[in-house]
Amino acid sequence: RSTRDADYYRLAAASALAEILPGTRTPVLAYNGAFPGPTIRARAGRRVVVEHVNRLDEPTTVHLHGGAVRPEDDGGPMDLVEPGRARRYRYPNGQRAATLWYHDHAHHLESEHVYRGLAGAYLLHDECEAGLGLPSGRFDVPIVLRDARFGEDGSLVYIPEDFAGRNTILANGRPQPYFRVAARKYRFRLLNAANMRFFKAELSTGDAFQQIATDRGLLPAPLTTTSVPLSPGERADIVVDFSRYAPGARVVLRDGFSTRPSTNGILRFDVCGRVRDGSRVPERLATLPALRPATAAREFRLSMDKKTGMGFINGRAFDPRRIDFTVERGAAETWRIVNENQVIQHNFHVHLADFRVLDRDGGPPMPTEDGLKDTVMVRPGESVGVRVAFDPAFGGDYIYHCHIIDHSAMGMMGRFRIT
Ligand code: C2O
Ligand code: CU
Ligand code: CU
Repeated sequence: RSTRDADYYRLAAASALAEILPGTRTPVLAYNGAFPGPTIRARAGRRVVVEHVNRLDEPTTVHLHGGAVRPEDDGGPMDLVEPGRARRYRYPNGQRAATLWYHDHAHHLESEHVYRGLAGAYLLHDECEAGLGLPSGRFDVPIVLRDARFGEDGSLVYIPEDFAGRNTILANGRPQPYFRVAARKYRFRLLNAANMRFFKAELSTGDAFQQIATDRGLLPAPLTTTSVPLSPGERADIVVDFSRYAPGARVVLRDGFSTRPSTNGILRFDVCGRVRDGSRVPERLATLPALRPATAAREFRLSMDKKTGMGFINGRAFDPRRIDFTVERGAAETWRIVNENQVIQHNFHVHLADFRVLDRDGGPPMPTEDGLKDTVMVRPGESVGVRVAFDPAFGGDYIYHCHIIDHSAMGMMGRFRIT
């Protein structure tokens, strides 16, 4: 539904049956019966109102990951929508075009809720981007990545921190689906919506493609690369040109981090006929905001105790009543994120703000993360410096956390106040 000043979407969370494995009905939690949830397409400068209805018997929230929204619209872990209740979230879309996503964030429940299906893509378009001539419309395709563990009966098995057991990769809710593509350019919006899994997207041919965007929008210039790593919550938009393949060719998008070659396929592209392709990838895509000087520096030390199953940031587990620090409205700050574990992967996500990666263990950022970000991987023992920029239009309380959702549920999360 649309009015002059806003687009309305209804997201009703309920139990549903989804055909994930061919011929099998799997009980899931779904928005509007869809697994993953419906893709929301928003336009910059035009408000989106999401009416969320909770038809589950547990509390929920809807969080717009990557959205610059007011605290009351952020769907944070303590701002619950109780069973049987409804809630409106307002998204101003005052930010640049980007691939965002929405997901449940109810404290201690988000891990299982997201695992069972409460997540979807949110594509924000704007005029600048539309003028570039990039592949658009049906040639602009979100690919929601995740993994799952299935029981013999096809049910989704949820065991917290079950990294090894979740060995089926799903793309848009299906295991290794195929996609008929014309021999032309496509834009794929890769979104890692897995609870824990890190993906490295690459083509089975080893061919290069172009990365055009990171979490919060277009890169200054396209990056030619053969792979893009994505930790949970991260996004990368890529352009693949299938005109280099003969009709009938099969190209697999696969996960280079997967150790088992038989199950590392994400999606198979079946290349069909050649068509006229009016799209292009210009050499200049966007101008990023200048790095603002930092007025404060902070450190975030991530640690997890396997024995107790507790996660910590700076030695403390999440306490919803505690404000961990205060940020000045509109400030820019340098944050250093340190993974103290020597074998456990973590990452780091902050609500509201975006950031640039300054360094990775003192060296340069990976080229694939050298744009506007809101989530960054922090591998075992690594230290990552970022410059966080806050939009002066927003104040109040927000959170930050490891986006390995099983970890944030274990306490690896904190809260800050913008005054
Ligand atoms: Cu993807 Cu706290 O969010
Ligand atoms: Cu978020
Ligand atoms: Cu973690």
